[in-house]
Amino acid sequence: MMEQSTHSQVKQQPDWLDQVIIRRLRQSDLPALEWDGEYTHFRAIYQNAYERSLMGQSVLWVAEHQGHGVIGQLFIQLDSDVSELADGSERAYLHAFRIRPEYRCEGLGSFMMKVVEADLVRRAFKVVTLNITQDNHKALRLYKRLGYRVTGPDAGQWSYPDHNGVWQTVNEPSWRMEKLLGE
Ligand SMILES: CC(C)(COP(=O)(O)OP(=O)(O)OC[C@H]1O[C@@H](n2cnc3c(N)ncnc32)[C@H](O)[C@@H]1OP(=O)(O)O)[C@@H](O)C(=O)NCCC(=O)NCCS
Repeated sequence: MMEQSTHSQVKQQPDWLDQVIIRRLRQSDLPALEWDGEYTHFRAIYQNAYERSLMGQSVLWVAEHQGHGVIGQLFIQLDSDVSELADGSERAYLHAFRIRPEYRCEGLGSFMMKVVEADLVRRAFKVVTLNITQDNHKALRLYKRLGYRVTGPDAGQWSYPDHNGVWQTVNEPSWRMEKLLGE
C-alpha cells in the first residue's frame, strides 16, 4: 500500500500545484482553518465570517490540495461598517490570507490572489483594500509585486472573542494598502 506523503514532502513533487483547487469555503472546512491548534483562538471569527458569507456580505476562499485538504485561505469582506475598507459595491477588504508554511514560495499565494481579484472584477468591484502589519516584509513585497500600494498607516488595534469567549486585543501597527482593479 502506498504511504500518504506528509505536508513537507508534497512540495518535492514537481506537479503538486496541479493538485490544488481554489474554491469557496464550505462549513465542513471550518475546523481545518484552525491548523492543528495554531488558530483555534480564531474559531469565533471564522464562524462569524462564515455566517456573513451566507448573507452575501463576504466571500471566503480556500486552497485545497487533493489528498492534503485545506492548505490556504483568503477572506474577502464585500461590506463593512468601515466604508473606507469595504462599501458593498466598489471597495472590498481582503484579510485572513495565509498559506500553510510547507506550501509557501511556489506561487500558490499569488495564484489565489489572482482568482480572488478576478471574482471581484466579475462582481463589478473596483478597489481591493487590506491591512498588513508593518514588520511583514515578505507579504509587503508580494502585494507590491501584485500592484498594491501603501496608502497610509493604520493603528492595527482590534479585538475578538477567542474560543473560550474571552476578549483578546491585538495591537499590530499596520500599513493600509489598496489596488485599483483592472489597472
Ligand atoms: C503571504 C503568503 C500568503 C504568500 O503565500 P505564498 O504561497 O508563499 O506566495 P507566492 O509563492 O505566490 O509568493 C511568495 C514569494 O515566492 C516567490 N515564488 C513564487 N513562485 C516561486 C517558485 N516557483 N519558486 C521560488 N519562488 C517562488 C514569489 O516571487 C514571491 O516572492 P516575492 O513576493 O518576493 O516576489 C504566505 O507567505 C503566508 O501565509 N504568510 C503568513 C501569513 C501572512 O503573512 N499573510 C498575509 C497577511 S497581510
